[in-house]
Amino acid sequence: MLRSQLMSVFFILFFALSPVYGAFDQIQLVLTWPPTYCHEKHCNRIPRNFTIHGLWPDNQHVMLNNCAKTFQKITNVRKIKELDDRWPDLQKSKSEATRTQSFWQYEYNKHGTCCTERYDRQAYFDLAQNLKDKYDALQILKNHGIIPGKSYAVDKIEEAIRDATQAYPNLNCIGDPQKTMELKEIGICFVPDATKATACHRRRTCNPINNKEIDFPL
Ligand SMILES: *[C@@H]1O[C@H](CO)[C@@H](O)[C@H](O)[C@H]1NC(C)=O
Repeated sequence: MLRSQLMSVFFILFFALSPVYGAFDQIQLVLTWPPTYCHEKHCNRIPRNFTIHGLWPDNQHVMLNNCAKTFQKITNVRKIKELDDRWPDLQKSKSEATRTQSFWQYEYNKHGTCCTERYDRQAYFDLAQNLKDKYDALQILKNHGIIPGKSYAVDKIEEAIRDATQAYPNLNCIGDPQKTMELKEIGICFVPDATKATACHRRRTCNPINNKEIDFPL
């Protein structure tokens, strides 16, 4: 009796405390396809390339979110420009986005602060960019004959990414599963040191009815 009570206390404490320590066991690069994103949101600019939505540390047992509010603005002009090229706030002009840095602030406070034991602020933003450059999703899809302006089977897109990363990605679509769905995001999960991709803990995909193809709009 006592023993099982002690065990429950142990487990409750273990799970309650783990987010405090911010221990993450994988990290997901989430890429946005701007033409789809901008079908839902009013955009200021619509690059025809994947852009970074975020880099999300995660834990198999607990979702990690909002570990601190410690974002500080990036001041290095070259770093700002490189970041805006890959991680633009599509709803804002370049000048407003880089002045307010509100998208980077939001993402950093919500996600980046949950992996500070391994990545400080600069390392976090650098890692997101390096991974995006290393896994050029537009090129990977193109290599498999998948180009914007057409529709494709969900598993064809998943296999193309898996072929390049050795792990299945997460996919996120907008639209009505009964009618048309559009590819909005691709998530690639990595081991904590980001040396290789790994299966995502909470697998997401698009489920159009009757396995219909999903649009990859221009
Ligand atoms: C798309 O982004 C990747 C990665 O950041 C970059 O290397 C590539 O040149 C871009 N492709 C185009 C067509 O702009």
